[in-house]
Amino acid sequence: MAIITTDIEEAAKVLDTNNVVAIPTETVYGLAGNIYSQIAINKIYAIKQRPHYNPLIVHIASVLQLPKIAAEIPPLAQKLAEIFWPGPLTLVLKKQPEVPGWVTAGKDTVAVRVPAHPVALSLLKQLQYPLAAPSANPFTTISPTTARHVQDYFEGKIPLILDGGACEAGIESTIVGFRGNEPVVYRLGSLTIEQIEAVTGKLELFNKQEKQPEAPGMLLKHYSPKKPLYLTDDVARLAENFSDKKIAVLALREVVKSKNIVYCKVLSVSGNLREAAANLYHTMHLLDATDADVIIAEKMPGEGYGRAINDRLERASKPINTRK
Ligand code: TXA
Ligand code: MG
Repeated sequence: MAIITTDIEEAAKVLDTNNVVAIPTETVYGLAGNIYSQIAINKIYAIKQRPHYNPLIVHIASVLQLPKIAAEIPPLAQKLAEIFWPGPLTLVLKKQPEVPGWVTAGKDTVAVRVPAHPVALSLLKQLQYPLAAPSANPFTTISPTTARHVQDYFEGKIPLILDGGACEAGIESTIVGFRGNEPVVYRLGSLTIEQIEAVTGKLELFNKQEKQPEAPGMLLKHYSPKKPLYLTDDVARLAENFSDKKIAVLALREVVKSKNIVYCKVLSVSGNLREAAANLYHTMHLLDATDADVIIAEKMPGEGYGRAINDRLERASKPINTRK
């Protein structure tokens, strides 16, 4: 049975024995293991049922450890790390030979970040090794933002969940890679494009490739509830098309009413997109647990955190004309 605890030393002990622990980060909960332990990393893939071609993110305690992980650090990567770490920015860089291929799915690059959650940081500082940690959810499902979400997914499958409360940012880290010295965005996330572009200038987005994805976080089906989810600019209108169904609505700021809308959850009454991002996955978990037949989500404004929210909702959604 998974034990939920706030005891960081207990978590360190479990990790020292080639085992996995769910850890809080500022973005989502991660399923963590020692990067140098093939046993631990295999457990992560098996528990998540994650395909082996999909590499993991390496979590380190400080930017000072970056040269141990990355063999080449473009000047802009160094600058971004110094400005945004600890924080929700993942850098994909050429890896050091010491970083095992089982963490990078055999690639010669490695994804690395310093998480901003105090519990994760304190754990990383105690350990003699970095932690590989994908989001702590089965492949393609909604990411967890509370210890309870992790328990609901992995009860009986993992020995320990380190509880750090609800994740503050609520959406995964933004992933930036490099072509030569030029930064490229692989995954939208909790650090906004606007924040990064203030440092780098205009960025190229490379996050819609389905085949041979450089960052499979951009797989088109991902972050999905069990119920069908549809994304639209006009919730009330789409609800009319589903007159024979019970509908649950995920709205930005205003409750939408119609006779077959049985649940409506608002992400931020003031329309604050950062707050909406923080509430997104928890609200998706809640609506998915109701007896509604379908979920209709309202599209967010396409700026700041709204872009990352729309990205997740698009990947969670079905095309509107199929209906089933
Ligand atoms: O916020 C986050 O990033 C969370 C927390 C736990 O840190 N982690 C997370 O991990 O979202 P995961 O495994 O769900 O997503 C990792 C993404 C995947 O899309 C993976 O393909 C990409 O990072 N990735 C990892 N290594 C890569 C590499 N060498 N090149 C390109 N993409 C990589
Ligand atoms: Mg994930």
